[in-house]
Amino acid sequence: MRVSELETPALVIDLDIMERNLRRVADYAREHDFRLRPHTKTHKLPVLGRKQIELGAAGLTVAKVGEAEVMLDAQPPELLVAYPVIGRRKLERLMAVAARTRVTVSLDSVFAAKQLSDAAREVQTEIGVLAELDAGQGRVGVSPGDPLLDLGRQIQRMPWLSLQGITFYPGHVPAPDEAGLEELAKLSALIEQATADWKRAGLPLHIVSGGSTPLLFQSHKIAGLNEIRPGTYIFNDKNTWYNSACGMEDCAGSIITTVVSTARPRQVIVDGGSKTFSSDRLAGSNEVSFGYIVEAPDATFAKMNEEHGYIELRQSKQEFTIGDRLRIIPNHICVCMNLHEKVYAIRGDQVVHEWRVEGRGKLQ
Ligand SMILES: Cc1ncc(COP(=O)(O)O)c(C=O)c1O
Repeated sequence: MRVSELETPALVIDLDIMERNLRRVADYAREHDFRLRPHTKTHKLPVLGRKQIELGAAGLTVAKVGEAEVMLDAQPPELLVAYPVIGRRKLERLMAVAARTRVTVSLDSVFAAKQLSDAAREVQTEIGVLAELDAGQGRVGVSPGDPLLDLGRQIQRMPWLSLQGITFYPGHVPAPDEAGLEELAKLSALIEQATADWKRAGLPLHIVSGGSTPLLFQSHKIAGLNEIRPGTYIFNDKNTWYNSACGMEDCAGSIITTVVSTARPRQVIVDGGSKTFSSDRLAGSNEVSFGYIVEAPDATFAKMNEEHGYIELRQSKQEFTIGDRLRIIPNHICVCMNLHEKVYAIRGDQVVHEWRVEGRGKLQ
């Protein structure tokens, strides 16, 4: 089938670009001796998890137990659940995953560690643990210094848990720009200090895990880091590009829409709104726009309802008529993948695969 024959809205993945993104990061990881454990919350597709492993990833990362269950189909040598797993039923499901591959969990509380240890003891299976450090985002993670060391010591004492080291997520640094590089230097000093304290306390430090797509190619500047777990890099999106962490030519995911109304002057309505694109605004910007319109770069994707996208053409000389197709690079591709039941892998103008997004909606 040709791309022009797809029903819209259709999320398409340009395989040539995606493969280049994957290879670039695999090469970077090899060059700097990083373990690569890509976060699969972006693509949610075991077939792509498998590809990442074939390109040298040591394992895969997920956020949810449901995603871990799905990613078993990629036959990963190991899975990192980079999210505290709380609750008995969830932990039972996680132990079923751990019967099939080695599992590591990131956590930031003795509460989570104790529940994990109890669940692991019941099935007599050792679970890896990374103690989560808040590197500045203020989301999960304990503070450096005594809180981190106390957490490490307590995890180490718990049966059936194997403390592997430290993890953090530098989500507070959205771009590798001047301000971002200053933050990076602070982050590096913080990790250097935290790992030195950790070692001095006699705690095991096999893994120092971090990494995000905006800082991906700066990861070697973070002292002591030995594992990266980027997610968005496989496709990239307008956020990544806008924040100078990739070029537009590196965006593999886009959504093809059809113009369904031209009733108002200098505005067209396309057949995708917030249920197609999500309502995520552009990161690190006050601009209200929901994607980059490839056929009309100076038009603005200004507003959305659930099934309607409002494209403003006041700044643009372009004219469109009903039935025209517009390809739009979304602000945040990860949430788009979660919204689509199936996506299309393309090469040139040919659709080469239709993939069911197995990991979509796996929120539990
Ligand atoms: C804990 C954790 N690790 C890694 C990632 C991957 O980040 P990115 O998508 O910027 O590559 C995320 C993204 O949300 C995350 O929450």
